[in-house]
Order: sequence, then C-alpha cells, then structure tokens
Amino acid sequence: MSGPDCGPRHVAIIMDGNGRWAQARGRPRLFGHHAGARRVREVVECCPALGVKYLTIFAFSTENWKRTQVEVAGLMSLFRRYISKEMKALAAKNVRVRFIGDRVRLDAKLINLMDALERETAENDGTHLTIALNYGSRDEVARAIRRLAQDVADGRLDPADVDEETLPRYLDTHVLPDPDLVIRTSGEARISNFLLWQSAYAEYEFIDTLWPDFTAEELAALCQSYGRRDRRFGAVKP
Ligand code: IPE
Ligand code: IPE
Ligand code: MG
Repeated sequence: MSGPDCGPRHVAIIMDGNGRWAQARGRPRLFGHHAGARRVREVVECCPALGVKYLTIFAFSTENWKRTQVEVAGLMSLFRRYISKEMKALAAKNVRVRFIGDRVRLDAKLINLMDALERETAENDGTHLTIALNYGSRDEVARAIRRLAQDVADGRLDPADVDEETLPRYLDTHVLPDPDLVIRTSGEARISNFLLWQSAYAEYEFIDTLWPDFTAEELAALCQSYGRRDRRFGAVKP
C-alpha cells in the first residue's frame, strides 16, 4: 500500500546542489540559491496532499559561514527577502513556520523577520514548516546540554532523570516528532551535521537531482517508496 495513509509524517530535506546548478549554467552561485528558494513554495504546498504534516528544510548550516563573504551575505539577504515575500502566502496556506538553529550570529533584521513569521503563523495548524538556519546538530546538542547542565546546577533536574526522553526536550526540535524520511539532493551521500539525534531511525534517500530541479512529483515518488519500506526499529516482526 502507498499514499498518504502510510507515507512519512515528517520529511526533512537537505536542499543541496544550488551552487552546481548555477555553475552548470555559467552563473554565480547566488543565482542557484535564488532558484533554490523558489522551489520551496511548491514543495511546501504539496505536503497536505501527501500526508506530510511536518516538513523540515536545511537552509544554512553552522559550517556554511566558511563560504566567501559575498555568498554568505547574499544568502542572508535572500533569507530576509524570502521571509518578507512569502509571509502572507504561508500564513494564508495555514502553514505554521518555526526556525531551528542558533540565532546569535544572525543579524537583528533577519531575527526580527524570523520572529514575525513565527508569530504570524503561530495559530496555523496545517503543515508545520521548520527552517533550519544557522543550524548544526552538534551545536544544537551542545547548547541543549549547556541548558540541561544549568538545570542540574540550579537543582531543577536530577542527573538520575536524564535519559532519552529528557535530552530531546532541550533540543531546538523539542516540539517536533522525529523525521521519518530524510532526503538529500545533489548526489552527496552524507548528513552534514543535520538532525543527528532526531534521525537515528529515519529512512534516507540520497538523490541526484540538484535542489533547484526538485519537484513535487519527485517528493511524491519518494513518499511512495517510503511507504514500501519495512521499518523494524530493531525488532523482529512476528
Ligand atoms: C545548498 O547548495 C545550499 C546551501 C548550503 C546554503 P550548495 O550551495 O551547497 O550547492 P553546491 O553543493 O555547492 O552545489
Ligand atoms: C548542507 O549542505 C547544508 C545545507 C544544505 C544548508 P553543504 O553543501 O553545506 O554540505 P557539504 O559541505 O557538502 O557537506
Ligand atoms: Mg552543497
């Protein structure tokens, strides 16, 4: 069986390949990032029909600051533009937006827009769109443990109570279920510091399509193929 009934509830996407897409057209990398940003709307909009309640997208990693100043500044400006431009449409489509990642290195203008988008869509109960911006799993876990340690130091948490249920409550993703399906575009078969804790039992798809070429049809096909997988979680089926 396939279709919305047994498809993934939470899909997480490593949107990779914008630079190579632009390069193949003899254009600067930022041209690829703009094309990539334009793909997001279609992918978000097809989620309800596929039964995907949670969509998490990797927009900028804690390692992406290593890129040239021009590319980083271009990406930050693209994020600001994207939020301003898409705010109304996302709110109208009943999408609830959240951001994960560390905000400390982001500029105040961008943070204000992120806050506004979260606020504007806070009452929506359709697709839960989570945008990972300045996100790195190791950084997230380190920040989580820092807060957890503070709770222990302040006497709010007993170290004996720290277990697999406690730690995720301190992660940026604390309100989200774990991803069922993680997709990475562009042919690279690696995780690049994305949702390491949360994806311990996710299904993975590494596909050759470059992100700016990714379509709703391709997502539908990946969801269908997910429906045919046998997820055992370590157990043996009777
Ligand atoms: C993904 O595309 C977008 C970001 C990491 C911001 P890339 O920019 O990594 O594109 P490639 O991998 O160089 O083609
Ligand atoms: C991962 O892609 C980060 C995002 C998609 C935002 P990268 O292109 O930065 O990852 P590496 O460098 O190939 O591992
Ligand atoms: Mg890349």
